[in-house]
Amino acid sequence: MNSIGINQAFFGRTQYLDLLKRRVIDLKEGYRQNIAFLGSCYVGKSTLIHYFLANLDEPDVVPIYLDLENKELPYFFFKFTGTLLYNFSKIKNLPLHDDLNLLIESTKGIIPHTIDVIQKIRTDLTKGKNIDTFSGLLTLPEVFTNETGKSCILIFDEFQNLEEFAIADVFQYLGKKIMTQKRCFYILTSSYPVEAKKILAEKLSLLFGNFEIMMVEAFDLQASQQFIEQSLVDKRIGAQLKSFLTDFTGGHPLYLNLICQEVLNLSAIHVQNEIYMPILSQAVENTIFNRWGVISRHFELIVCDLCTGKGGRIVTEILIALSNGQHKTDELLSSIGVKKTQITQRLNRLLELGVIVKNGTFYYLKDKLFKYWVKYVYQKRLKDVELAPDKQRRQFKDEFNACVEIFKVSSRKDFPARIMELLHCFDNEAFNLNGRKYKLPLFQEIVSLKLKSETGRDLDIIKAKTTGSEWFMVTKKENLGESDINLILAESKRAARKPERCVMISLSTIDENARLKALQERFWIWNENELNTLLTLFDKPHIL
Ligand SMILES: Nc1ncnc2c1ncn2[C@@H]1O[C@H](COP(=O)(O)OP(=O)(O)O)[C@@H](O)[C@H]1O
Ligand SMILES: [Mg+2]
Repeated sequence: MNSIGINQAFFGRTQYLDLLKRRVIDLKEGYRQNIAFLGSCYVGKSTLIHYFLANLDEPDVVPIYLDLENKELPYFFFKFTGTLLYNFSKIKNLPLHDDLNLLIESTKGIIPHTIDVIQKIRTDLTKGKNIDTFSGLLTLPEVFTNETGKSCILIFDEFQNLEEFAIADVFQYLGKKIMTQKRCFYILTSSYPVEAKKILAEKLSLLFGNFEIMMVEAFDLQASQQFIEQSLVDKRIGAQLKSFLTDFTGGHPLYLNLICQEVLNLSAIHVQNEIYMPILSQAVENTIFNRWGVISRHFELIVCDLCTGKGGRIVTEILIALSNGQHKTDELLSSIGVKKTQITQRLNRLLELGVIVKNGTFYYLKDKLFKYWVKYVYQKRLKDVELAPDKQRRQFKDEFNACVEIFKVSSRKDFPARIMELLHCFDNEAFNLNGRKYKLPLFQEIVSLKLKSETGRDLDIIKAKTTGSEWFMVTKKENLGESDINLILAESKRAARKPERCVMISLSTIDENARLKALQERFWIWNENELNTLLTLFDKPHIL
């Protein structure tokens, strides 16, 4: 299990922490609402829970945290009972032992009934009665809350692993318990959102104990930037490099953390107070290119996991093809050269594992940095015939520098120009953006112009022609208002032919009146979320 070290401060996540605090208050008031935190591996779910628990200061609420990754029933028993008694002892100012027997001794005078039940479960465990042990443990919180009048928070980290206990209908069983234990607040986490949602919908959709699903994502742009600043302590870093790092890591706290740590180490060695390209580039080389670099090892283990076993080679080839920008099944087929069913089977598994995402007919790797590593490190290691590590290293460095340069050039371009670049990529594909389906045509001609509003302000417009029709787009980084919509309406009335489609594109949210008006006119609205999806699909840096 990963946990935050002493020199790594916890950062952000206030929205989830606030939610958890509210749910604890609700629990004390007799209203219990369970939560499931779902999100990719290493995105920060356990860290969030640990931080929440470390700061939980409620004498009437006893938490039990269980990490279920690769754990067996005996562990589950000792951890479950041990944590319960330990946290109860803490609240009661009783001696704090690490040993279950000692904990039992010091608490049995106060909670005799709970201790009796624990002893019985232990007997079941030693006799190998797995089902009785498991059901006994799930009943224990109820016994405890009845005896003490306290509430419990039960946390199953990576809860899908309960399946490994080989107990028939384990989730239905858990569901029944959850329904009746109104004084237990359940928090589940899972790194496999697809599988977890299925379990939650099919087996844990309960009458009085439904789970509120919270998706935990990587840090957003602003949080990433602040996180970098915090991680670099007293070292300065320019806005552009900070933005680059955010985009490069996709805001993943783990990667930001590891790269920033390395940057800090290097800046100490080279006695530098400001971070420039050479240090960043060296830090990336050390962590991502070097075989024993932390991120490199991390990715290697992931690939090893995904690509061992029968048909592993196909998975490797799929990962490589996706990293090289081949997104569609047909493209994958022609580059890998195996049967279609073989590809779709593997793609489906990768989808289930959350390694890739599908949008329309496009498949892409979810983790940006992993994609970078597959493309620039892993692929080369596999395919290079010449054993020349220095050459590979130099090449990696050059490619990384080029990548930073491209980012810098893009980020210097203004907003309309970035949108035009994106429009040039469309080719009659349909995509899902924020739950809506959009068919995006191949544009033959794209021009930008400025319209002057009554107040004399300029509004950036893009006109894009397909064969036989025209699209009008308004691009504005800031808030779009009603006057902007009126302006584009007037422009479309002036046009020889009514535009087929008007799209309002803005990085800020659009004000409510303007939104209603746009919807009334059947305009499309694209905000940050839609834009970022498109930029990811077409391999472009996000607009910061
Ligand atoms: N909020 C955060 N603040 C600082 N670092 C974080 C945060 N969230 C995650 N991390 C970093 O990412 C690593 C992996 O997070 P973890 O909680 O283990 O992921 P998950 O449980 O989702 O698989 C942590 O060990 C830590 O280094
Ligand atoms: Mg975890």
